[in-house]
Amino acid sequence: MSNIDWKSLPFGYLKTDYNLRCYFKNGQWGDLEVSADENLNIHMASTCLHYGQEAFEGMKAFRGIDGKVRLFRPEENGKRLELSANGVMMQPVPVELFVEACKKVVKLNERFVPPYGEGASLYLRPMLIGVGPQVGVKASAEYMFAVFVTPVGPYFKEGFNPIKVQIVRDYDRAAPLGTGTFKVGGNYAASLAAIDRGHKEGYSSVLFLDAKEKKYIDEAGPANFFGIKNNTYVTPDSHTILRSITNMSLRELAADMGLKVELRSIPIEELDTFEEVGACGTAAVISPIGSITDRETGKVYEYCKDGKAGKISTQLYERLRAIQEGEMEDKFGWNVIV
Ligand code: PLP
Ligand code: COI
Repeated sequence: MSNIDWKSLPFGYLKTDYNLRCYFKNGQWGDLEVSADENLNIHMASTCLHYGQEAFEGMKAFRGIDGKVRLFRPEENGKRLELSANGVMMQPVPVELFVEACKKVVKLNERFVPPYGEGASLYLRPMLIGVGPQVGVKASAEYMFAVFVTPVGPYFKEGFNPIKVQIVRDYDRAAPLGTGTFKVGGNYAASLAAIDRGHKEGYSSVLFLDAKEKKYIDEAGPANFFGIKNNTYVTPDSHTILRSITNMSLRELAADMGLKVELRSIPIEELDTFEEVGACGTAAVISPIGSITDRETGKVYEYCKDGKAGKISTQLYERLRAIQEGEMEDKFGWNVIV
């Protein structure tokens, strides 16, 4: 695609050539259908529109240094979509069908996979929605699984430079026994107002606290939180956050680099003790956090005093990127060549 300025791509929607759809009807999944239409034609009483029977995934395909296109851990996203589907009583998509669809949609849109070295990738957005009509609060008997793609640049305009975030106490993203661990639209709806206010107040993202006690760091907007101190990678163990595949991979990379890894609650006061902190996710990759402002108390925690990402965050970022772009041996077997 010669007319795309890959280097300045935002994290947004750009029309590509094809998307895929697959329907669950009469108790079975049909064939994967290729479509060039960006619109879905669904019943107005579909359960996804009224009762939130909706889940999605996010993953990336990268053009490597060798010209090959690699998908990062699609099977993990497939397993998570299965969890999300069960969480809101939807028909799960078989993981093999999920991975096949992801490979196929990337192949069909290969001309939109950004060239190597431009800091961009092809983002895949698989989604599962209840499309059967119901007026009573009941699960649908029919589902649509669809996957579209769009080439993207960094989620935060800062890229791999430190971002400012804000702790919010007057909004919760997820209830203690709610749906926080599923990748369902309702959690994002619940986070919109806090994130929007944060943006207006000058922050790139917000940190949600645990909803029950308001004592621990929970989710970093659309990403997981991590902190680094004393050669240890620490990240929240919470039932109300998404099990980030990026975070899972960073924990493996950190252990491989000789760091200790701790998955546990992180009390807010511990923010004073971290040498580096960051947000991680498919879209956010690693976004180093330069400062955290507690909106209610006014306390500010500062990191990256030289304006740059910390040493360990940088090493983690570089390793992850090098594996995804085929520069470094994929010793964990994470990449799926398309
Ligand atoms: N947390 C939330 C709320 C997210 O939306 C995402 C993005 O998918 C993540 C964490 C990071 O998860 P992953 O690394 O699997 O993309
Ligand atoms: C992702 O990182 O893939 C996400 O889904 C985060 C956000 C864009 C919803």
